[in-house]
Amino acid sequence: MIDERMEKALNDQINAELYSSYMYLSMANYLAEEGIDGFSNWMKTQAQEELYHAMKIQDYLLERGGRARLQAIEQPPLEWDSALAVARDTYQHEQKVTGLINQLVSLADELNDYATRQFLQWFVEEQVEEEDSADNLVNQLEMAGDDMGVLLMLDRDYGSRPPLFQFPGGESD
Ligand code: FEO
Repeated sequence: MIDERMEKALNDQINAELYSSYMYLSMANYLAEEGIDGFSNWMKTQAQEELYHAMKIQDYLLERGGRARLQAIEQPPLEWDSALAVARDTYQHEQKVTGLINQLVSLADELNDYATRQFLQWFVEEQVEEEDSADNLVNQLEMAGDDMGVLLMLDRDYGSRPPLFQFPGGESD
């Protein structure tokens, strides 16, 4: 049986992951409206990943005799100034999520909850990747500046990211 404090903290993390998914979907919508379809596609896959993170925690809670209690999801921003602004917000957001994961690890240590500590290791490693890919996106867009040729090439590259899961019909949209 999982400790009540850990159950509450993991439920809050489910909400944070769902918010992340919601925010990346909102970014994908903004980018699509701006005609930046490659980055929009990348963000859609990012949104799928965050949903997967939320479901992974939900499944773990159930396995430990706890219960996932879904909470209201805050409305994400709807507009950004540019693809670079989206990338910077993504990087900043992932750093915040890393902080949340670290807090969960500290709580697991405090409660001597070794199973949750081990479960969280996957997220610790995932956050290293998440921060790295967001940081790369920022750096590449900063280097591209206003060079439309480079921006188009980057957009095409990012657009090749495959979806995490396919919708019926074999398309991600
Ligand atoms: Fe689930 Fe991007 O952190």
